[in-house]
Amino acid sequence: MDNIHDSYFKVNKETWDKKVSIHTKSEFYDVEGFKKGKTSLNSYEIKEMGEIQGKSLLHLQCHFGQDTLSWSRLGVKCTGIDLSSEGIKQAKLLNDELGLDATFIESNLYDVPKNVEGIFDVVFASYGVIGWLPDLITWGEIIASKLKSGGTFYLIEFHPIVWMFDFLQTPPKLTYPYLKSEVIYDEYKGTYTNNDADIISKEYGWNHGLGEVVSALTKAGLHIEFLHEHEKSPYNCFPNMEQTDDGMFLFQEHKRMFPLLFSVKATKK
Ligand SMILES: C[S@@+](CC[C@H](N)C(=O)[O-])C[C@H]1O[C@@H](n2cnc3c(N)ncnc32)[C@H](O)[C@@H]1O
Repeated sequence: MDNIHDSYFKVNKETWDKKVSIHTKSEFYDVEGFKKGKTSLNSYEIKEMGEIQGKSLLHLQCHFGQDTLSWSRLGVKCTGIDLSSEGIKQAKLLNDELGLDATFIESNLYDVPKNVEGIFDVVFASYGVIGWLPDLITWGEIIASKLKSGGTFYLIEFHPIVWMFDFLQTPPKLTYPYLKSEVIYDEYKGTYTNNDADIISKEYGWNHGLGEVVSALTKAGLHIEFLHEHEKSPYNCFPNMEQTDDGMFLFQEHKRMFPLLFSVKATKK
């Protein structure tokens, strides 16, 4: 990555480092419940990942490690990476406190080839990850390079249509073009777990359409097993959401008009 991207990553890292200390105390992440045994994984990824007990898994952009450690609890041999030093520090502390065997490495996604040794049965990433990455072609190549032959990549992510909205306006307003390739800068008070938290989030992000995601993976030599679009989200992390009987969330505005999530599974031949 060039200097301009390094300056964007630096700002994002500072913001994520600050967010970690708020997120670890938030109701949203419920660390106390997690410590008592509650999984942080949702039904989509548990069902779609299939049986992975005993396999090795590389978790990209693992935040402070709850999802990684939830896979560890299911008998998966996990390595988590994240840009945020605070995230990795808290992930290691949680791992030690819970007596689990995950490895956590501080790394920018684009530095994974130099920072992470070995290859894995599974590469996994979830909910709010690709929007921090300017270049999906290199992302796809890194994923393919970290998979064993026959290995699987799985991503569950917010749908690109969701990122067409400006959530700083009430109600959220359709603002950004689906195919926007330039960087988007946002600065706002709070974070998605606590809107009124004492933090100014400063963030550089990039929107990626479904075609871009799938093409990056196929260009890297992966075979797409499925691309699913999901109507409901397990997370109440956007303004104006309402809960349905199954515990999932929908936008109040534009209800059921477009999917909130997509998931993709790809294999390396
Ligand atoms: C929304 S969180 C991931 C959410 C995760 N599913 C969870 O709830 O625990 C996004 C993560 O991406 C990380 N991140 C952002 N840019 C990154 C980059 N360039 N390389 C690696 N990690 C990055 C952030 O530090 C943050 O932990």
